[in-house]
Amino acid sequence: MGIYLDHAATTPMSPAAREALVAQMSQVGNASSLHAFGRGVRKEVEQARESIATIACAHPTEIIFTASGTEANNLAIKGFYWKSIERDPSKNIIVVAAFEHHAILEPVVWLEEHEGAAVIYIPIKPEGVIDLDALAQIIETESEHIAVIAVMHSNNEIGTIQPIAEIVELAGGIPVHTDAVQSFGKVDFDFAVLGVRSAVISAHKIGGPLGVAALILEHGIDITPLLHGGGQERDIRSGTINAPSIVAFAAAAQSAAVDRVSNFERTWKLRESLKERILRAEPDATFNGRSEIMLPGILNVTFPNTESDSLLLLLDNAGIAASTGSACSAGVQRASHVLISLGLTEAQARSSIRFSLGSSTTQAEIDEVGSKIGSVVESARAAFSVGAGAKS
Ligand SMILES: Cc1ncc(COP(=O)(O)O)c(C=O)c1O
Repeated sequence: MGIYLDHAATTPMSPAAREALVAQMSQVGNASSLHAFGRGVRKEVEQARESIATIACAHPTEIIFTASGTEANNLAIKGFYWKSIERDPSKNIIVVAAFEHHAILEPVVWLEEHEGAAVIYIPIKPEGVIDLDALAQIIETESEHIAVIAVMHSNNEIGTIQPIAEIVELAGGIPVHTDAVQSFGKVDFDFAVLGVRSAVISAHKIGGPLGVAALILEHGIDITPLLHGGGQERDIRSGTINAPSIVAFAAAAQSAAVDRVSNFERTWKLRESLKERILRAEPDATFNGRSEIMLPGILNVTFPNTESDSLLLLLDNAGIAASTGSACSAGVQRASHVLISLGLTEAQARSSIRFSLGSSTTQAEIDEVGSKIGSVVESARAAFSVGAGAKS
């Protein structure tokens, strides 16, 4: 099938998760039913909740299962916002990092357009870490009116890890939400130590099934639900829970936790090797994102005088799957808002791609990418210069 370097988009399912999923799918029973079938499923779900909570350093009652990381982020952002304005209509400001995933940015924009929210974007420093001084300034001037602060734990396009504990300290009593979809299972993530009010994790980024995720919401914190119905999941997320996927999520989290340190080292070495091979073939390539600790598997590269969509097509033709990490709207490739937030020009952002490595990546694959990248970039440059000629 080729070389899969798009693990940040989704990961292959781990053997333990697949096994758990299949086993649980042969069970019948709604976890909310009181009969023996229902109780049997409930028991499995509660064990899964407990093991995910232990790995995330949270209490089991703080885990609220949802159908995606996108849903969990919507629930947190809208839930905090609506609860805040219900208590005090003047607390309507949402403070958000400029390079958040669309699963945060879009609900924020929606609240601004439809629900009277005011939004302040936290600027990002060129290395890919939020500007803490700017955030301190925002909090100093607006603290009375802020409903929630949202900063992702790590960025999905460039792999930089954010200073969440410092943000929580600056925030004082203002709720801080963190999207930890790319961090959980890959780097140290301790809900209790971070001190955030809520966080999001998603199964399919760590070898679990698609379509199951969780909002981790501090015990005792009340937010307004998005879905109303049977009152499942602390009355915060109604809907029959997806027991097979939840059990498989826990199995994937368990494998990721057991192997986390060795996976980090192994993946980081492969990333460094890929970086070195890219530079050997393309000395003018530059890499985006530098934080003290990085996600091990993400490498974002700018190849000057290329277009990322032709790079991706040519790579795909060569049997290599990579991505830009940015949304493609109606077939028009837009420059990544993440790269723009770091200060890259439109042209630089539009000539950047993301390789994301994971459990299935091997050194032989990296060597193959290294041997093909030079000719791919050369072809992309040729196409770019023809395009530039056509425009001039
Ligand atoms: C940082 C981040 N947040 C949220 C999501 C959305 O998660 P899901 O695919 O479970 O909806 C993603 C997935 O790409 C992500 O990378």
